[in-house]
Formats: sequence, C-alpha cells, structure tokens
Amino acid sequence: MTTLIDLRSDTVTRPTEAMRKAMATADVGDDWYGDDPTVNRLQDKAAEIAGRQAALYLPTGTMCNQVALHALTRPGHFVVCEGSAHVSGVELHSSAALSGVAFRPIAGARGVLSAGQVTDALRPDRSDVTVVDLVAIENTHQRGGGTPLQVEDVRAVAQACQAAGVPLYMDGARVFNACAVTGAKVADYAAEVSAMMFCLSKGLGAPIGSMLIGDAEFIREARRTKILFGGAWRQAGIMAAAGLIALEEGPQRLHEDHAKARVLAEGIAELLPGSVDPDAVPTNIVFVDISGTAWSSPEWAERLAVEGVRVTMGPGKVRMLTHRDVSMADVHAALAAWARAATS
Ligand SMILES: Cc1ncc(COP(=O)(O)O)c(C=O)c1O
Repeated sequence: MTTLIDLRSDTVTRPTEAMRKAMATADVGDDWYGDDPTVNRLQDKAAEIAGRQAALYLPTGTMCNQVALHALTRPGHFVVCEGSAHVSGVELHSSAALSGVAFRPIAGARGVLSAGQVTDALRPDRSDVTVVDLVAIENTHQRGGGTPLQVEDVRAVAQACQAAGVPLYMDGARVFNACAVTGAKVADYAAEVSAMMFCLSKGLGAPIGSMLIGDAEFIREARRTKILFGGAWRQAGIMAAAGLIALEEGPQRLHEDHAKARVLAEGIAELLPGSVDPDAVPTNIVFVDISGTAWSSPEWAERLAVEGVRVTMGPGKVRMLTHRDVSMADVHAALAAWARAATS
C-alpha cells in the first residue's frame, strides 16, 4: 500500500503521545465561569509570551479573527487589509454575517502592505461617508507564500495607523514561523499592534485551539463576544493541556519544517523548471505554479493522490505545507511521487 504523505496543511498533525497523556489527566473546570485552571494557565502563558496584558483561548484562528473584528469594528465600516489575506478571503462570509464589515483590499508584494499603502488607504473620506475602523495584517502571509514580516515593517504600518487613529490587528496564525526566520520574538510583534492572534493547531502541532491577545479591556470584550458567538466551551482544559505542550515544544522545531519546504521547493524546481522559486519559500508553505504544465491543478492533485501525496490547490497552483508529521524522508518520497505523477 502507498504511504500517505499529507501536505494539505500544517493543521493535519495528530496529537503526540505526551499531548494525549496531558489531555487525559488535565485539571479542568467550566470555562464559562472562567474557572478551568488549564485554560487559565494557557491564557496566562500566551499573554506572557506576547508580553501583553491578557489572552483568550478560542477553538480556531477564524474565531479569533472574527471575535477581534467584532470587537474592533462597526457594521458598515471598512477593514483595510492585503487583498489575499485569510480574513478577507476565506473568512469573508463569516465577517459579513457576524459583523457586517466590508474590506478595502490592497495588493501587496507577497502579501505585505507597506506603510505608504496604509497611509493612503486611511486618508479620511472627503465626503465623510466611508470610515475605516481597522487595519489587519497577516504574519506569516499564507497566500503570499508564507512570507514573514519584519518587526520594523510592522512598526512602520503601526505608525501609519496611529497617525490616523486606527487600530492595527495582526493575524499571526503562523507568527512563530515568522519568528523562526526573523529572529524576533512574538512579543516584539505584539508590542506594535493593538491586538493579535496565533494558532496552536498549525506548526506548533496542537490538535485544536488559537490564542487572541491584547490589553485587558479588549480581552474582556472579546470574552463577551466569544460567549455571544456560542463559544463557551466548558471543560476546554482537556484541549488546553495539549496547547500548553504545543507552546512549550513547538516553536523551536519550526526551522525543520522550513528546511523541509525548501528541499521540496528545490526538488520541484528541478523537475518543473520555473514552477517555483526556492528562494521565495522562507517558511513552510510551497506554492507550485503548474500553469505551464500539461495538467490543471485538480488533475495534479488527483495524480499526486494516486501516488500517495495529498495537496491542496487553487487556480493554476498546487499548495503544500510541511509540518511535524512529515519527515525529510517523506519529503523525498513526495518528490519521487511528483516525478512519477509528471511522467505517468
Ligand atoms: C493566515 C491564517 N489565518 C487564519 C486561519 C484560520 O485558522 P483556523 O483554520 O484555525 O480557523 C488560517 C488557516 O489556515 C490561516 O492560514
């Protein structure tokens, strides 16, 4: 039987033995009442890592983004973000339904907005009709190819926001991947933004959960919104126990995922010249431009699946993410599968 190499996302990792044991023995309470000790420990730890006053444990990154948008915007107002940001694409219908906000998307190089672009986007409407309530950035930028933002670039955008009196939110679903490349700490980024989130369930390898982070008043309002959205998840300490291990052990091994992505990109660049630039793969995300090949992206996905490799796709592109549960040997096996798929 062909072994399955799952490169669809870094969310597909299974909990480790240590996580399963911690989950089985976790001290729990009722999170609606705020008395789950393991959830509280995780929230305190996340706030400490970010150097901010408070954090809120939520089931998903999407829920963090949506709770933040709800807290920081008013219906009918705008959010400025890069055009391919997760929040304005994948989550568009969520924010439409939950908060009634509209997006003012701006095209950035590999997903990165410059301070000048933000300043332009925040110029007051002369007719005093349209209002921007929030600027949202993404770090690393997924569709930009896993692009890590430099702290100085975030600071420059933050200054542009401050000048206009608009808060800055960071979707840091993969901010630890950014840190592994830039050498910055999560707190360095967190110091520049009004609020942010990071995911435990992606490169860090927890089965579930994300952390929304900010000052105490913001998190107080975010907790109300979480409950408003039906998110009081009672004995969530069972999951938080795995989240604590992910936070403890996950960040230091992310460079391994980046090295695997690089090898993957190099192998595919050799097989399909021009389809991917390995130098443009800074973290764990590889986009392969298959538009110059004989097959469409769904056809590639199907051919690769037959060879035991699972990928996701978009128009003209195949996407792969490396993670804890794929080894370097798996990456080489995936490259062999690509070679078979290309010639079969
Ligand atoms: C940049 C970014 N933000 C937010 C999310 C949403 O996270 P979740 O899948 O936990 O809802 C994702 C998911 O892939 C993402 O890539």
